[in-house]
Amino acid sequence: MNIDLLLPENIVPELDRFSLGTPYYYLDEIGSTNDYCTGLAKDGAPEGTLVVASRQLKGRGRRGRRWVSPPGGLYLSLLLRPRFEVKKAALLPLAAGVAVAETLETCGLTPQLKWPNDILVENKKLCGILVESGFSGTELLYSIAGIGINIAIETGTLPPELTAKTASLSGILDKPPEPSEVLVSLIGHLERLYRLLEQGPTDTILNEYRNRSAVLGKELTVDAPEGRLRGRAVAINDSGALVIDSAGAQHTILTGTILAFN
Ligand code: BTN
Repeated sequence: MNIDLLLPENIVPELDRFSLGTPYYYLDEIGSTNDYCTGLAKDGAPEGTLVVASRQLKGRGRRGRRWVSPPGGLYLSLLLRPRFEVKKAALLPLAAGVAVAETLETCGLTPQLKWPNDILVENKKLCGILVESGFSGTELLYSIAGIGINIAIETGTLPPELTAKTASLSGILDKPPEPSEVLVSLIGHLERLYRLLEQGPTDTILNEYRNRSAVLGKELTVDAPEGRLRGRAVAINDSGALVIDSAGAQHTILTGTILAFN
């Protein structure tokens, strides 16, 4: 792995062809790229600002969890300033999941999306996504798409509860791609999906998401704000919510964590 390829002088010429991905900030080590990017957003940084790190000391996951971020991972946060309605912006986490899946497909993999946006390869988590937004009243000021991809991490060095359920590209592919290659490809896919969300109807993105779902049609257990539910995943609705059928009653879950499915 050649981390130098992530240095601005090497990668900005590649990112310059996109409207997202610059200004570009590279930090060898940081607390959390999402925190750093939030600071930039509050200082008025433009849409497209990208923060990348090779290691995070305080990486954050969804729902207050931590995201263990050793060297060998690609950790990034992309600043967006959506000019579309909040209802569409709510689909950004799913669109980001599709963008990562498309990027991994170009590496010859068949990733699946575990609602809302864990990326699984061979049923193990290879990538996590944390989208955080800032508002002024009801006005959306910014959204930050934070993405962590395991490229060449040693899964054996992770906390024991994570080792068995975590994947890294280095453990799957004979020759994992350089983090810089993954980054450039990912920004291209993120840009395509973001413009699609901005300009088009949402069903295209939703269908791209549904087609890659690991959980649709499966029996599952989900931790939701309303409690723990068991049932069959019957739909991802037009708002990106998970609809489950539990003993004949339908529940629409806006946020939550799937604990198990089969
Ligand atoms: C999850 O699966 O719970 C989401 C994990 C998101 C991790 C990424 S790594 C880059 C960005 N910075 C963070 O602190 N978190 C996100």
